[in-house]
This record gives sequence, structure tokens and C-alpha cells, in this order.
Amino acid sequence: MRPTSTAALLATATLVGAASIDTPRAATVNGTAGCGTTHWFNGITQYHSLQSGTRSRDYSIHLPSSYDANKPYPLVLGFHGSSSVGFFFEADTGLSGSKYSAEKILVYPNGLGGAWAGANYSEATVPEDLQFVSDLLDEIRSGWCIDNSRIYATGLSIGGGFVNTIACAPVGGNFAAFAAGSGSFYTDNGGVTGGGVTGQPCTPARSPLPVLEIHGGSDTDVLYAGGAGEGGTEPAIVDWLSRWATRNGCTSGNTTETLFSGDVHHSSWACAGVEGESVLQHWKVDDMRHCWASTSLDFSEIAAGQGPTPIDASTIVMAFFDQFVKP
Ligand SMILES: *[C@@H]1O[C@H](CO)[C@@H](O)[C@H](O)[C@H]1NC(C)=O
Ligand SMILES: *[C@@H]1O[C@H](CO)[C@@H](O)[C@H](O)[C@H]1NC(C)=O
Ligand SMILES: *[C@@H]1O[C@H](CO)[C@@H](O)[C@H](O)[C@H]1NC(C)=O
Repeated sequence: MRPTSTAALLATATLVGAASIDTPRAATVNGTAGCGTTHWFNGITQYHSLQSGTRSRDYSIHLPSSYDANKPYPLVLGFHGSSSVGFFFEADTGLSGSKYSAEKILVYPNGLGGAWAGANYSEATVPEDLQFVSDLLDEIRSGWCIDNSRIYATGLSIGGGFVNTIACAPVGGNFAAFAAGSGSFYTDNGGVTGGGVTGQPCTPARSPLPVLEIHGGSDTDVLYAGGAGEGGTEPAIVDWLSRWATRNGCTSGNTTETLFSGDVHHSSWACAGVEGESVLQHWKVDDMRHCWASTSLDFSEIAAGQGPTPIDASTIVMAFFDQFVKP
């Protein structure tokens, strides 16, 4: 990884300076090398690029408007859907709004060719995109003040599928929890052949790994029942969930509550050695198409010919993340 900014150098210099005067700070949370580096235009999304392998990669970062350079913040990576860029995921989810970003750093990476690895139309290979995640984490940690135990990933459609690809790989061990909206899980389809990148091993860095998924029962792009998708064969959502139930040591079946006059079904699993918030959760909205669920109309809903949904994915995902700290 080769950061294009001088942030990493500044961070190192600042950290050495801070250590030499023995400043006590953040006694309970370990911050990263970027702690102590001052940034400008906090609260306004800024664009950066970095070199990852042979590729130049782009991302944007949004800091809390009251960013304190000596305070380690949770970090959320947000992966856009296909034919898109981070800007649209930021707009659809509203995650840079103060409701979500007041105490968190949001990062929106851009996929190569407007997509993420895993589909048969993807420009990047799975190893290339996973390397980008690793390089991106290095760059963010060295330039900004991050709470290493509270790093999360969420994404829409193929971005949600890629979040799962991360969760299945060693780099996933950096994260505290994962959440996908309308995920297309090309790389975790039970080994079914047909179109996309199949047969990727799913070997999570630890168990349990908190995972949440939200999906529409009326999704015509990424079918709830699985089958041929735009970029390859996708799993039935219940099969994909059942594999995570096994990986997460959830021995009993799901508990499902039905809400909003039968339109919404929230399932959770009881998993080995886990008390409190369930580490495997799913929201099915019967009457929802392929979009990022939002109670106030977002662009992805407009594109899907979908109205506002009874549940709000951003609220659910961020509340889920708040329950988990990496052990
Ligand atoms: C901080 O880092 C040290 C050294 O790696 C570790 O022993 C300690 O448990 C960490 N503390 C927290 C709160 O993560
Ligand atoms: C990708 O896979 C889908 C579904 O299996 C298939 O319909 C499509 O033709 C494939 N496209 C390419 C470029 O291979
Ligand atoms: C929950 O369990 C029931 C009963 O086994 C099953 O029919 C259903 O598909 C499960 N729901 C999910 C979302 O896995």
C-alpha cells in the first residue's frame, strides 16, 4: 500500500511526538497510528485514492463534524451496488447524516468498473478486491483515529455480496460485524456452478461473526429463492442464512416475529455462547423489490419502482453494529 497523501507520514510524526511527552489519552480504547493528526473540512465528504497492487483505487471519507483527532472512532465501510459509485451509496443510505455520523467515520470505496468482485462481469478479481480492503484499512488507520475493535462493513446488492466475501476471508477478522442489503452472494452460493465466481472458500476469521441481511420478497433482480442472477448463480437467502447459522454455531432454528401487518419478518438465531443481541439476523420485507430499504424514498427505491418501505435499513444496520465490538 502506498498512500497518496502525506497523512501517514504526518500521523507517524505526530504519534512519536505525543509519546515523547507522555500524553495520557483514551485509556480504555486503543487508537490507531492516525490518532493525533488534525484534519480539515470535517463533516464534508472528501475524496482520496491509493495504490493497491497494480491498481489505483478511490474512496471517499466522511468525518464527524466535531472530529477530535485524539479520539478513536468506530469506522463503517459502505460498499455501493453495481453500475454505481460510493457517492450514490452515501446518498441512498444517508449514513453521512449527523444521525449516524456524529460519532463515526464513514468510508465509501469505489469498485472497479462500478462493481465488486464475484460476478461474471466484475472487473476486479476476488483477491484484488480483498487486497484493496486490506490496503484501505491500513491507509485509514494510519491517517485517521480509528477504534480498531469497532470496524464494520455494509453494502447494497453486489456491495452486500462483497461484504459477505470479506466476512468469508482472513481480512474479515478486522471487522466487528457485517450487514448486507439485498445482497447478491455470488461467492457464497453453496458451491453451485453457473456464471459467477463460485467455489470461493468461506473460512471466517472467527466464530461467531455477527451478520445481518435485509432482503425483499419481491426482489426480481436478486431473487429471494435464489437462481440465475445478472452475474451468476445466487443462493436462496434461507440457504445462505443457514450456512451462517452453522458457521456461527447457532444450533437451534430461527425465531421470527412478523410485523407491519404481515409484510415484515424479522428472524434471529440463538448462537453458541452468545447472550444478548443475536449474531445472525435477517429482515424479509415481502412487498419489497431490489433496493436499500428506506422509510423515506431513496434513489435505489425510485430505480426499483419501489415506494418507501416500512423498515429503514440504515437505522437497523447501524443499531446492529452498535451492539458489537470485536473481541
Ligand atoms: C490495547 O492493546 C494492548 C496491546 O496490544 C492490549 O493488550 C489491550 O487489550 C488493548 N486494549 C483494548 C481495550 O483493546
Ligand atoms: C453471467 O451469468 C448469468 C447467470 O448465470 C448469465 O445469464 C450471463 O450470461 C453470464 N454473463 C457472462 C458475461 O458470462
Ligand atoms: C425459519 O425457520 C422456519 C422453520 O424451520 C423455516 O421454514 C424458515 O425458512 C426459516 N426462516 C429463515 C429466514 O431462515
